[in-house]
Amino acid sequence: MNKSTLAGQIKSQQGDYSIHVGEGILDKIYNFSKNEINNSRIFLISDIKVFSGLGTNIIKAFESNSIKVESLSIELDESKKNLSTVDKIYGWLHEKGAERSDIIFSLGGGVTTDLIGYVAATWLRGIKLIHIPTTLASMVDASIGGKTAVNLTQGKNLIGAFHQPNLIVMDTKSLSTLNQKEMNSGWAEAIKHSLLFDNNLFEKFKNHSSELLNKGEPFFTDIIKRSVEIKADIVSKDEFETGTDRIKLNFGHTIGHALETATSYNSLLHGEAVSIGMVVASKISSALSYSDDNLTNEIQNILDEYNLPTRIPKNIDLDDLYTIAKSDKKVRAGKINWVLLKKIGESVIVNDVPKEIVIDSLRSSQ
Ligand SMILES: NC(=O)c1ccc[n+]([C@@H]2O[C@H](COP(=O)([O-])OP(=O)(O)OC[C@H]3O[C@@H](n4cnc5c(N)ncnc54)[C@H](O)[C@@H]3O)[C@@H](O)[C@H]2O)c1
Ligand SMILES: [Zn+2]
Repeated sequence: MNKSTLAGQIKSQQGDYSIHVGEGILDKIYNFSKNEINNSRIFLISDIKVFSGLGTNIIKAFESNSIKVESLSIELDESKKNLSTVDKIYGWLHEKGAERSDIIFSLGGGVTTDLIGYVAATWLRGIKLIHIPTTLASMVDASIGGKTAVNLTQGKNLIGAFHQPNLIVMDTKSLSTLNQKEMNSGWAEAIKHSLLFDNNLFEKFKNHSSELLNKGEPFFTDIIKRSVEIKADIVSKDEFETGTDRIKLNFGHTIGHALETATSYNSLLHGEAVSIGMVVASKISSALSYSDDNLTNEIQNILDEYNLPTRIPKNIDLDDLYTIAKSDKKVRAGKINWVLLKKIGESVIVNDVPKEIVIDSLRSSQ
């Protein structure tokens, strides 16, 4: 369809699919999705925060093409990302008689795409899915790649499945209602993509921050689109994270996840924790002579510019933080796979970083 909005074409064992990114493109949701829908019934499941602003327009767009939409608007924040919410949604799908040939639309942030993705993966052993992500974090990251998840009380994202959507449509205009802190947290992941894979994109983040922070169009949408392309490319190369490509997206996440756990998920947003994690990783990289302090400064400056934290909160015990990092689900045989930057656009995976170097890097980041 419209070439100018196409940001990626994901290749997956469950089928290939397109990602569209554009300003105001939700008005055309019927055109984007009509080939996927065929004779299916549509079940739209929305985060309550965006239903009245976006969900009702989506319903109108289909109804004006004589397609009826069943819709459910519910609270979908991190505290609701659990099996009890999934169970409520199964109950609703059952009541409405959703069949194997029907299609689910998810509308909301990363919690929504993860949880509704899980519902779509498991309802009648898997039904079709279209994601409409509405936060920056879910656009540049969570909605792409088919990882779905819900939390258990014992830990985050412990339940899940790989279930690729049939289409993703991102309307950057929907970000107009997102608060600044959530926006910045999303920028952390987009900046991460540039640090790992695209020096040219990094330069744009550096030289055009005020335009991006003010959502200046068309630049704002172009940059999001480029970040989406990077993630789409990596996911296509390494669908199940069995190679060395997708794991690189974990840059900043070893310490980031540990910080989220250490602060009980209630003081740092995910992207904020990753921001601090990227600084620590760059210090480790420098201590091991993969890079130097200039790179650390460059990273710190860009994160400052996007109002992201770069220092570990003072009340956190660094030995405890290290212990938490060692118990991360990505640790293999007791070894942490550190993603380290050699320079902007080039990274390396190192799994034998001595504890003292990690602790020193944590200390100088606090
Ligand atoms: N599957 C993956 O590959 C992957 C990758 C990264 C993150 N994630 C998951 O994504 C989740 C985080 O995503 P998130 O940051 O989007 O969180 P979120 O879905 O909780 O959204 C953040 C907040 O913004 C609100 N919101 C959503 N869209 C809005 C809009 N347009 N305007 C105003 N408010 C809006 C939500 O109600 C919520 O309060 C985590 O659960 C994380 O585990 C998954
Ligand atoms: Zn992340």
